Amino acid sequence: MMKEVDPARLPQHIAIIMDGNGRWAERHAMGRILGHRKGADSVRVAVQTCRRIGIKCLTLYAFSVENWLRPEAEVRALLKLLHEYLEKEVQGLMDQDIRLVAIGNLDALGEPILAKLNEAMARTASNRGMVLNLALSYGGRDEIVLAAKRIVSDGLAGKITSEQVTKELFTSYLYTPGLPDPDLLIRTGGEYRISNFLLWQMAYTEFYFTEILWPDFRERHILKAIADYQQRERRFGKTSEQLRA
Ligand code: FPP
Repeated sequence: MMKEVDPARLPQHIAIIMDGNGRWAERHAMGRILGHRKGADSVRVAVQTCRRIGIKCLTLYAFSVENWLRPEAEVRALLKLLHEYLEKEVQGLMDQDIRLVAIGNLDALGEPILAKLNEAMARTASNRGMVLNLALSYGGRDEIVLAAKRIVSDGLAGKITSEQVTKELFTSYLYTPGLPDPDLLIRTGGEYRISNFLLWQMAYTEFYFTEILWPDFRERHILKAIADYQQRERRFGKTSEQLRA
C-alpha cells in the first residue's frame, strides 16, 4: 500500500526534470512536438498539486542551454509552448496566489517571450502561496561561471575582498538568491542523471527517479515521490545518533 504524505514534513522546495516527452510521443505514434504539448498539461497538474498540498517552491527545468541544439522546429515549438503558457496561465497563477520567477540566460529567449515573462513576473510578484520557478535557457555550470565572473568584477571594483568570499556570498551571486535549496529532485523518463541542473543548489538534495514519462506524470506520482522522500533520513553528513540526540 502506498504510504500517505505527512503534511507536517513536506519538502519546502521540489525541483523537477521533466523528461520523456519525445518518447511518449513516439509510443503514441505522434510527433515530438505533440509530446511537449502533452507535457505542458503535466506542468499544469504539477503546479496545482504542489500548491494544493502546501509546497512552498517548485522549480521546473523547462528549457536547458543544451536544448538550443535541438532541431530548429523543435526549439521553436518549445518557445511557442512557453509563450502560450505565459499567456494563458497567469490568471491561474493569480487565482492560486503563486509567484512566478525564472532562472537562466533569459535574454536568450528573445524579446516577445522575455516581455511576456517580465509581465507575468511583475503581475504575480506579491503572491505568497507558492513560488513557481521556471528554469529557462538554464545551465548549472553557466550559472556558477556567471557568479564567479560577477564576484571577480565586484572584487576588481573594490566592493569585496577574497576573504569575504564564503559559501553564503557565493550563493548570493547565483540565479536563485532567496530560494531555499531543493529538498527533493524528481526526474521522470527513466534516466539517472542530473543534466547540468542546479549543480550548486543540489548538494544535499534527495533524488527520486521514475520511469514514468513526463506527459503521464500525474498527482498520484507526485504524492508517491513525496512519500518516498519522507521515508528517508537526511543526515547532512552526520550520523543517525547525532540526529536523534
Ligand atoms: C524533455 O523531454 C523535455 C523538454 C526538453 C522540455 C520540457 C518542456 C515541457 C514539459 C513543456 C513546456 C513547458 C512549459 C513550462 C510550458 P525530451 O524531449 O527530452 O524527451 P525524450 O528524452 O523522450 O526525447
